[in-house]
Amino acid sequence: MAENKLLEAFNRSSYPVAGHGKRTVGVLQEALATVDAEVDSDVYGSGKLIEDFQAKMADVLGKETAVFFPSGTMAQQIALRIWSDRKGLQKVAYHPLSHLEIHEEDGLKKLHGLESVLLGEKDRVPTLADIQKLGDDVACVLLELPQREIGGQLPEFAELEAISAYCRERGIVLHLDGARLFEILPFYQKTAAEVCALFDSVYVSFYKGIGAIAGAILAGDESFTKESKVWKRRHGGDLISLYPYILSADYYYEQRVPKMAQYMEEARELAALYNECPAVETRPEVPVSNMMHVHIALPKEQVEPIFVSVCEETGVGLTASLREVDADYCYFEVSIGDRYATVPKEALRKAFALLSESLGTVAR
Ligand SMILES: Cc1ncc(COP(=O)(O)O)c(C=O)c1O
Repeated sequence: MAENKLLEAFNRSSYPVAGHGKRTVGVLQEALATVDAEVDSDVYGSGKLIEDFQAKMADVLGKETAVFFPSGTMAQQIALRIWSDRKGLQKVAYHPLSHLEIHEEDGLKKLHGLESVLLGEKDRVPTLADIQKLGDDVACVLLELPQREIGGQLPEFAELEAISAYCRERGIVLHLDGARLFEILPFYQKTAAEVCALFDSVYVSFYKGIGAIAGAILAGDESFTKESKVWKRRHGGDLISLYPYILSADYYYEQRVPKMAQYMEEARELAALYNECPAVETRPEVPVSNMMHVHIALPKEQVEPIFVSVCEETGVGLTASLREVDADYCYFEVSIGDRYATVPKEALRKAFALLSESLGTVAR
């Protein structure tokens, strides 16, 4: 079946379960509606608007200073470049499915001449033992919390503390890919600053669980962020004005950070429904943030028409796409946002009854 049949059904569904809503210009309009039109724009990285937001985020993350970037891709490559230069070492270590390794067209290697060392194994989070196996020639370890490409899994907090202590002792810099940092705070029962205290530098995103337009913050000590501003200029990241991103980041940060515990509980409720279906298991089994991967031990061609029918018959859009792992296996990602609470429970119950029955027929 054509991929877009599922996408089309999802787009027509009355109750899509994932995300906050459609990515329309209305997202920006809503954020700007409350802003005074006379407020001065930021200009090439300066001005009250950008400086206030950077100071606010430095405070939230418990770091000396913070810099707003148009993208996390730019921010993190720069962070790793700075730490490598300071250490005089060209190697950085991260998970084999890190964003830097699989989604950035080798920017770190081609633009910065850095080499990556892949930590641990693809299907689990890195451990202290993985880090202890690294040689002395690694400048920096990047940890991603939660690990997105394996459904948003997390190490125990005690393991993180042990990793942080080990890296400090060994003089290895520890950087946090916190694209979804706010999403995991309810699980760890920690503040953002408490998690970030384990790391030398931190990146957070504003368009994942927070749902703004785009944008990132990179935080660390004064000399690190000062240097990152020079690299931002070199990368063309100092857009004359970044205020549409900053204002929307701030607006949706305030709206959605207080709801992260709700999203995690809703993700857990949804995961339990999936885990009762034949041939289905979620990773993690019990979500530790607003996200999970739903794995189905059946061929994509058999599963796709089932999700289309569930969508058409119950109005519940469970997923817009399926990714094939091999001929007998597929999966999809779910991130819970504002939409989930608007799905009537009865419609959800019917959707899962139909999903379970239909999967049971083909799984036999
Ligand atoms: C874990 C992780 N790190 C980094 C990035 C890069 O962020 P950006 O899209 O702002 O470049 C992403 C984006 O999806 C991500 O998921």
